[in-house]
Amino acid sequence: MTIQTRPIGRRLASVADVHVNLTDHYDLSGEIYRQLRSAILELRLRPGDRLPPTRELARRLGVSRTTTSVAYDRLSSEGLAVAVRGAGTFVGQVGAMPSGRRVPAAVRPLPEWESVPTPSFNWAKAEFDFRPGMPDARLFPLRTWRRLMAAQFQPTAVGRGVNGDPAGCAPLRAAIAHHVGLARGVRCGADDILVTNGTQQAIDLVSRVLLRPGDQVALEDPGYGPVFMLLRAVGYKVNGVPVDSEGLIVDEIPAGTRLVYVTPAHQLPLGMTMSLRRRLALLDWASRNDAAIIEDDYDSEFRFGGRPIEPLHQLDDSGRVIYVGSFSKTTLATLRLGFIVAPSSLVRALHGAKFLADWHSPVPLQGALAEFIAAGHFARHVRRMRLVYEARHELIGDILRHRFSSQLEVIPSAAGLHICATAPTASVDQIAEVVRRAAGMGVACHPLALFRLTRARSAGLVLGYGAIPTDRIEAGLERLHRCLIGVSVSGAPR
Ligand SMILES: Cc1ncc(COP(=O)(O)O)c(C=O)c1O
Repeated sequence: MTIQTRPIGRRLASVADVHVNLTDHYDLSGEIYRQLRSAILELRLRPGDRLPPTRELARRLGVSRTTTSVAYDRLSSEGLAVAVRGAGTFVGQVGAMPSGRRVPAAVRPLPEWESVPTPSFNWAKAEFDFRPGMPDARLFPLRTWRRLMAAQFQPTAVGRGVNGDPAGCAPLRAAIAHHVGLARGVRCGADDILVTNGTQQAIDLVSRVLLRPGDQVALEDPGYGPVFMLLRAVGYKVNGVPVDSEGLIVDEIPAGTRLVYVTPAHQLPLGMTMSLRRRLALLDWASRNDAAIIEDDYDSEFRFGGRPIEPLHQLDDSGRVIYVGSFSKTTLATLRLGFIVAPSSLVRALHGAKFLADWHSPVPLQGALAEFIAAGHFARHVRRMRLVYEARHELIGDILRHRFSSQLEVIPSAAGLHICATAPTASVDQIAEVVRRAAGMGVACHPLALFRLTRARSAGLVLGYGAIPTDRIEAGLERLHRCLIGVSVSGAPR
């Protein structure tokens, strides 16, 4: 065995917990050698990883220490391992096996899953970031959150290794019921609340307990892509329903629809609020057709003036509305916490569905959020952010209405984290080109066409303001303006 006196590589600390499985009883050290060799050449063990001590590996495998030492000696003699005096044996600096063992892909996903796109995670890169859907993480009270999280890991806290209630931890359910009762007039108690991993899981669970594969579902079009893709991939027949300035056009819901998903507080992506008339029409439609409604009340916390319209949930007296809420915009998107306010008829089945999906949402996160709400930090943060977002909303709206008036038409809205503007004289392709160019110049935003689900796409831009500081908005929009001039949208076909 080659013995070195200085450790190699960069990662010395960890002992690789490598899996070795002995089936050949006649050549034990040969088998250990071959399995470690494969792990090294396939880069499952990386240069610098410390191999388990020969004594420990021998004990784990029930073989003599000589057997493991012989295997390590063979690896060392081939340069695949290096023994360092007093430190252990480390994986050597070897390249990957030129033709690593490739297992043929005998199993394939269903086509509906194979085609699901996953989002890009290059969030940090844009110099001027107008992508919608992100809250301003820089203004989140991180110090308070860290303190509340740390408390969850005290020996007496809820975060100790006992599994939690699938419905969510009691203090958080109570805090949510109190919050939606106060802020949104939703009549519910803690027992009606189910804590989920965001809206996305809420909708997954609700659809599973209500529908069978092949059942018909309807949602607003343009609308929220992740929900559309989820429902389609799970196997429902998903129809897009057009919207106008009052929201979803109820008369266009296809016959046979069993479940409708809507965003009445702030239509995604156009931004208008569903009118009271439409809300009542939708409830009436649901009761005539024995259907259910998922009300996604996202962004309702960030309403800037105007009289808020009651949630569908509050208007519903037949128990057909399932209200879902999210903490992704009001706290941090990365926490992945949301909730369902369920009609009593669904509560038990939803608890079961949540249990079977993932047992429960992370208990320490729930505990910290419960404290965050109960101690008033949540309400304070939302109040503060409402002012910040309102200022950004106004600033972007003003600039678009003045500087971009010949290219864009702002859709009036008074809530949320983004503004939508149509481009009446441009084509979808031209706007796609604008977005590409803008990205090349450090400005990130989304084309409106990205939100079209099943119907014809239309030209426009969706500009978020959660991620961009207020004092960078003007400069960012000025740069975007140059991209719009560049493709000369005036007079182009729609
Ligand atoms: C319409 C809509 N609903 C809900 C959410 C939040 O989803 P989640 O709670 O899964 O993060 C988003 C996020 O962008 C959204 O656009």
